[in-house]
Amino acid sequence: MSQPIEQFTHHFRNEHRQIRDTLLALGEAFRNRDRKAIRARLEECTRFTGPHFRYEEEALYPALVPMFGRDYIDGLLEEHDLGIDASRRLSELAEHKALSQREVEEAQHLIQQMLPHVSGCDGLAIMMEVVPEAEVDRVLHARKRAQQENLDLLTWAEGLRHFR
Ligand SMILES: [Fe+2]
Ligand SMILES: [Fe+2]
Repeated sequence: MSQPIEQFTHHFRNEHRQIRDTLLALGEAFRNRDRKAIRARLEECTRFTGPHFRYEEEALYPALVPMFGRDYIDGLLEEHDLGIDASRRLSELAEHKALSQREVEEAQHLIQQMLPHVSGCDGLAIMMEVVPEAEVDRVLHARKRAQQENLDLLTWAEGLRHFR
């Protein structure tokens, strides 16, 4: 059985890969104005990011406050706010029957704005290597719980987020 940190890093990296690939595919679907693909990729995106954002906010980000200080962690939470707002707007655009060039560009811009959080967030794994193992266990536990409840991003954001 691998160490908690190895398990964490493995899952964390794979989740970011999945989110990265889905966002890139979503951008392509918008460029192709393929409504069916837009909806499918958007559905995947909110399904993958829901539990991921949730365990990050419930356990991972708090575990890193002693290292980074509050300000940096608040910045990560603001990036999540932007990601949630962008997902809402992309869902609206997905309902449009005929997307204008401007709307396609808006979608590209929203997706581009989210990508740096994916790579930046993945970099936190290097810091988790020096966090006490009990904290890593807590993060893995929060991850498991978030996955079991499996709320998509917008359902979680409108319900449990900030009310825990
Ligand atoms: Fe992340
Ligand atoms: Fe994140």
